[in-house]
Amino acid sequence: MSTNQAKLQYLAGLISSCQKCPLFKAATHPVPGHGNPNADVVLVGEAPGYFEDQQGLPFVGNSGKLLNKLLDSIRLSRDEVFVANIIKHRPPNNRSPLPSEILSCAPYLKAQLSVIKPKYIITLGRFALNYFFPADSISRVHGQVKNIDQIGQKLTIIPVYHPSAGLRNGSMLKALQQDFLSIGKLLGKI
Ligand code: URA
Repeated sequence: MSTNQAKLQYLAGLISSCQKCPLFKAATHPVPGHGNPNADVVLVGEAPGYFEDQQGLPFVGNSGKLLNKLLDSIRLSRDEVFVANIIKHRPPNNRSPLPSEILSCAPYLKAQLSVIKPKYIITLGRFALNYFFPADSISRVHGQVKNIDQIGQKLTIIPVYHPSAGLRNGSMLKALQQDFLSIGKLLGKI
């Protein structure tokens, strides 16, 4: 077992017994995150939905299917990347996470990123964007390459719309597809 894998498993254990906010009460499984513990690319979503809560895995429902297609389009597989969410337990009825829940859960993502030390972080949707850039609006900055100093390292962050927005709205789907193509070029994948 790689050291990073062991560290991520330790964090997953902390997450599974977390009671820092009430979300654990209604959740079936925690969803700490999944993928390559040594990934160059980490994708960060918002919070688990119904299927993620059932399986304990991120992005396994309809949004996940679209995410897999977008990754395929730039020759990235789910095995190469690590996928996580800001919130680790499902909010009831898929409501938006509350500021207090984000505050409670944020240290887990920070710790995961400190272990993985990815070169690139793709944020999915506004909550993930605002985790790193609280004042930015997703409609204005999606597809831009942004640099930030955090967790003691320089991170390159590319915000894109949340896949669920792409499922609801054709123009957002086009923007997502184009932004992923730009990411593929940045990564030298296409
Ligand atoms: N939406 C998210 O933000 N995360 C998931 O894991 C699934 C859907």
